[in-house]
Amino acid sequence: MGVLHSSPTRRHSGRAAAEGGYPLEYRRIAPIMGHLWSPVAAVTSCYNGKTNVQIAVAIGAASIVPRKPRVVVQIYKGNFSHRMITRSRALALNFLRQDQWPLIRAFGFDSGKDRDKLAGVAYQVRATGCPVLDDCWGFLDCRVVNSMDAGDMTCFLADVVAGDTIGEGAPLWWRDARRFLPGDWLAEWDRKISAEIEISSRRMDLIDYTPWKPIEQGDHE
Ligand SMILES: Cc1cc2nc3c(=O)[nH]c(=O)nc-3n(C[C@H](O)[C@H](O)[C@H](O)COP(=O)(O)O)c2cc1C
Repeated sequence: MGVLHSSPTRRHSGRAAAEGGYPLEYRRIAPIMGHLWSPVAAVTSCYNGKTNVQIAVAIGAASIVPRKPRVVVQIYKGNFSHRMITRSRALALNFLRQDQWPLIRAFGFDSGKDRDKLAGVAYQVRATGCPVLDDCWGFLDCRVVNSMDAGDMTCFLADVVAGDTIGEGAPLWWRDARRFLPGDWLAEWDRKISAEIEISSRRMDLIDYTPWKPIEQGDHE
């Protein structure tokens, strides 16, 4: 990862001052950035009778009001799930238990464009129409209320309309899961993420600033 630049907040000299900021090496902030990822969730969606699931860790709480809980969920535009969520305006977050780490590969390494990732997986359709896994640490069934374009991905703001905590203890975190994953899975993941970083670095500044307008059910891109 190259050198990023932030606004100067104190005096600097030399190269940093000449560049109008001070250099920030990614490795210096990697521990902070790494701690910002959420527990691992299987994000399920449903559109036009088709269901899908992907893995996500870019999820945050977005409400302080207990009677109106909200989340933000960041989904990459190349994902099949992006198309499903944009059109249905719904998603469910199925947070995984620690022993469910094999689902990271089953749901997060290839696309629902190519195969039905929920075939043989037990689930129930909930209020939003999204499948909720019978077996998970806890789930949030969510309806999208707005979204922000981020070039390579979309940040979806969603109301939590139903949910439950089913498992005991802590959910699965990616930083812990990495320790369980076999070496060839990690190598496969590293190849996938390297290719996606290339795509994202080309697209992330191509932000569409048009105010959000929900796509009507049945609309097509
Ligand atoms: C540990 C892990 C975390 C991930 N986090 C995200 C994420 O936060 N947002 C996202 O859009 N994709 C994320 N992905 C990638 C998608 O799960 C992956 O590209 C998936 O194959 C997309 O499936 P789909 O095309 O069926 O939607 C993650 C993958 C893994 C393995």
